[in-house]
Amino acid sequence: MNFDFTEEQIMIKQAARDFAKKLEADVIERDYKAEYPTQHIKELSNLGFLGMLVNPKYGGGGMDTISYILAVEEIAKIDASVAVIMSVHNSLGCWGIEAYGTEAQKEKYLPQMVTGEKIGAFLLSEPEAGSDATSQKTLAEDKGDYYLVNGTKNWITNASSGSVFLVIAQTYPELQHHGINALIVDKDMPGVTIGPHEDKMGMRSSDTHSVMFNDVIVPKENRLGGDGFGFKIAMKGLEGGRISIASQAVGIAQGAYERALQYSKERKAFGKLLAEHQSVAFKLAEMYVKIENARNLVLKAAWLKDNHKPYGLAGAMAKQYAADSAMEITTEAVQIHGGYGYVKEYHVERLMREAKLTQIYEGTSEIQKIVISRQILRA
Ligand code: CAA
Repeated sequence: MNFDFTEEQIMIKQAARDFAKKLEADVIERDYKAEYPTQHIKELSNLGFLGMLVNPKYGGGGMDTISYILAVEEIAKIDASVAVIMSVHNSLGCWGIEAYGTEAQKEKYLPQMVTGEKIGAFLLSEPEAGSDATSQKTLAEDKGDYYLVNGTKNWITNASSGSVFLVIAQTYPELQHHGINALIVDKDMPGVTIGPHEDKMGMRSSDTHSVMFNDVIVPKENRLGGDGFGFKIAMKGLEGGRISIASQAVGIAQGAYERALQYSKERKAFGKLLAEHQSVAFKLAEMYVKIENARNLVLKAAWLKDNHKPYGLAGAMAKQYAADSAMEITTEAVQIHGGYGYVKEYHVERLMREAKLTQIYEGTSEIQKIVISRQILRA
């Protein structure tokens, strides 16, 4: 077993860390105003982080999953909103097209996605199909050489900033999930409407909206993969997406831990530093162990993916453990800060709000337990 990173992975981690330092200056204000990080996303594209996993043939970085999750963690440590924009774009948008697209689709979309000219979004959730993803109500009626799409998608990250939408929609309701298709929809197609900005608890600087489709004509050539294969594409996409959300959770936890560690070495109570109180030192020790465990689960899932081995179970384990740990760790970081932890200036209240979302999106912690328990019971 080799726990060392390659020189390239170390370099990418450092580049992400340097980039993330710049986010710190305006992260509180952007979060407060729920302002999209336009300039920072441009810088991400200059770094090549918007096409990290994409084959160089289409202009991408051709990097491995380990490099990618190291970068996501470093960015999430400072600003989870930027991390999720990058994550949905890379893991669900670019990956979906590269893994299942035709050569023509890859050539049309990927070069513009790696430069950030077009940002990807993944449209699976609906008002009545969140965790229960097979119950898709959005219709993609087969009209010969095009699909007529009608319906509403909810909680879509990158909905207003994005323009390449991977839309999961039902074509043959009688076949249930075997009748679902995945379509590439350009946001400017007539009949696509973006709903109001969701006023979220956390990750407020990422853009989340509902998206409405009203008689949208999507050419057949925009279908991703085989007819009725859309649900499998969505599930495979989420398998990889969950690894990056798990690394986002590790980053959030690490950010909160570092701030709590620093604070406990500066702040005195009852005549000594907080860190010298065993109750605080033990909290820090528990946080440290949980982060290390979570990070190792994420790295293992990424390693499996890079080595073309099944990674669905490992990704679900990483996501569930890292997200739940991030929630516990950020809560403890607020506790260590006392009253200061409850105000914006010290960052930990924001990190706690961000951690909550990692337990919800790309499959709640309960969904991960469904995935895990089904696999271990089947074994
Ligand atoms: N890979 C390939 N196929 C898979 C799969 C996987 N990982 N997981 C399930 N499937 C297939 C199954 O094999 C089955 O197909 P067959 O009938 O041909 O065998 C089909 O999918 C349906 O599976 P189940 O019978 O297991 O369906 P279910 O309804 O019992 O449960 C579920 C499936 C795992 C709970 C799924 O619905 C799920 O993952 N739900 C959560 C959805 C989710 O994560 N939403 C997040 C939204 S995206 C987001 O957050 C993005 C963003 O913007 C941040």
